[in-house]
Amino acid sequence: MKRSIQQTFSVPFKYTVHFSENVFKKENPLFAEVIGQHQQSKVYFVVDNGVVAKHPDLLNEIRAYAQAHKACLVLCADPLVVPGGEEVKNTKKYVDQILEACNANGIDRHSFIVAIGGGAVLDMAGFASAIAHRGIRHIRIPTTVLAQNDSGIGVKNSINVYGKKNFLGTFAPPFAVINDNTFLPTLEDRDWRSGISEAVKVALIKDASFFQWMEASVEGLREREIPPMEELIYRCAKMHMDHISGGDPFEMGSSRPLDFGHWAAHKLEQLTDYRLRHGEAVAIGIALDATYSYLKKMISYSALHRIISLFQQLGFVVHIPELSQKHLLSDGLEEFREHLGGELTIMLLSDIGKGVEVHQMDTDLILLAAEHLRDFEEGKFELNT
Ligand SMILES: NC(=O)c1ccc[n+]([C@@H]2O[C@H](COP(=O)([O-])OP(=O)(O)OC[C@H]3O[C@@H](n4cnc5c(N)ncnc54)[C@H](O)[C@@H]3O)[C@@H](O)[C@H]2O)c1
Ligand SMILES: [Zn+2]
Repeated sequence: MKRSIQQTFSVPFKYTVHFSENVFKKENPLFAEVIGQHQQSKVYFVVDNGVVAKHPDLLNEIRAYAQAHKACLVLCADPLVVPGGEEVKNTKKYVDQILEACNANGIDRHSFIVAIGGGAVLDMAGFASAIAHRGIRHIRIPTTVLAQNDSGIGVKNSINVYGKKNFLGTFAPPFAVINDNTFLPTLEDRDWRSGISEAVKVALIKDASFFQWMEASVEGLREREIPPMEELIYRCAKMHMDHISGGDPFEMGSSRPLDFGHWAAHKLEQLTDYRLRHGEAVAIGIALDATYSYLKKMISYSALHRIISLFQQLGFVVHIPELSQKHLLSDGLEEFREHLGGELTIMLLSDIGKGVEVHQMDTDLILLAAEHLRDFEEGKFELNT
């Protein structure tokens, strides 16, 4: 007898991205409010060592905060300090350390794992939180621009395995996110700048007025002023959040608009042994796909010029020698297709503020785009095409 039982259900996900400052000053009630006031919850902190180095009082502040708010939270173990940057994702070691701490300290599905750090630490800790007991409540406190406006506010986590970026990971919405702008002044210039490329990305595919705002605010952003950076982070985060809820949050399809510029970026990060920051690689990837869009006659030269100039005024490099290797580009496209898990789908531009998806790219034209980027990098802007 042929039988079947149909199953359908939907589970709504809801989380808030809070914007605050000095989150662990005792007088700031936000963190305790996010944890919830009803009972004392176990909390386990995982902290980026790059943040600890620049904020040496942070761990003591966390301990004092827990003491002051002990009605709702208790530290079930001392914070785990892990290396910042891609190193923390290139091994399973730190995931194991978190899982062991969950086991040793009875961290359960009603406890909280709180990660403080850059996108790499958040990705690693988010992955460990998602798999222990099939998912422990996870709060993210992103400390870089990229993590506050992009990687830390979404639903993905991962580590790198088999030399492949983000090969192992899950979709797991966080319990909450807290963006604290007091972490931003200690960022190295590269990390301050790096996350701006994700804002350029969302502006280019969806919001021409945001792009114009960045052009007008370029000096303040370059000079590391906090108010324009706060505005950039808020607008970019809002667009990412809207996109996640309005589109395909768990990326079931092959279309991945927010991965504009990312196919080449992923390959460049891997090829340079992560010498390039994610956002730096994304800036080059966007510049490449924008130049390709121009060569395909999809955008005007003046639009391309505005895009490249904005990156250059912000201090980004738009070409590195690895970009001009033919096999790199075809491998990069194939790996990206594998990553999408279906048909190759690449976002290009039909205007500033308008993304368009295509399903194939011409390798010779990509190489030509890379050559143009080398010229742009040398300050030569006349194109002979
Ligand atoms: N999950 C996602 O959806 C998603 C999206 C985009 C990117 N990512 C991932 O994010 C990672 C990159 O994150 P990132 O750009 O935030 O950089 P990062 O995490 O690599 O950190 C860069 C450096 O900054 C240091 N640092 C962090 N905060 C600091 C602070 N406030 N002051 C001083 N130093 C500080 C870190 O220790 C590290 O050395 C990549 O692994 C990328 O794959 C994930
Ligand atoms: Zn990105």
